[in-house]
Amino acid sequence: MAFVKKNPDELTCNPFETIGKDWFLLTAGTPEAFNSMTCSWGAMGVIWNDPSVTAYVRMNRHTFGFLEEGTTFTISVFPEEYRKALAYCGSHSGKDVDKAKETGLTPVELDGAATYAEAKLVFVCEKVYAQMMNEDCFVTTEQKTAYYGKDPMHKMYIGRIKAVYVQE
Ligand SMILES: Cc1cc2nc3c(=O)[nH]c(=O)nc-3n(C[C@H](O)[C@H](O)[C@H](O)COP(=O)(O)O)c2cc1C
Repeated sequence: MAFVKKNPDELTCNPFETIGKDWFLLTAGTPEAFNSMTCSWGAMGVIWNDPSVTAYVRMNRHTFGFLEEGTTFTISVFPEEYRKALAYCGSHSGKDVDKAKETGLTPVELDGAATYAEAKLVFVCEKVYAQMMNEDCFVTTEQKTAYYGKDPMHKMYIGRIKAVYVQE
């Protein structure tokens, strides 16, 4: 198995399943110094005529600092057998642990960005837009109350998809 580069329009994945049910690892930083966190919120689509991915990251994540400093991030989707590894990366902080060491995931470099050899699908993204979500902008109160009562706001990061890789 090896990573093969694809065009975004060749993908057949269902974003609701891939993001919401399968989850993904968001990895930011450089191949030498990076951090990954599990996400199940996000979007895939088109903006400014570019195929793009949007991720939502709370400010208290260790990954947040890496995202703020860097210009590239990866979105990595894994086979079901890595669910436990993703659960670990979503419940421990890179502030305290080495997630690759603890999960056994193998960091690799793709187009100058960090991802993992075990991923089945990787988006290499260029950060083109980042904006703090603003609680004054909620039109309904349900989400504001449910998700921001005690936790910090999310910042949204729109990444232009520079490359998509799948394992073949
Ligand atoms: C299934 C799952 C989905 C998650 N989705 C998100 C998300 O979309 N955005 C976010 O900010 N945190 C999300 N989290 C929480 C982070 O992954 C978690 O706080 C993680 O420990 C942060 O790691 P870090 O401090 O090393 O960045 C999710 C956690 C899990 C288990």
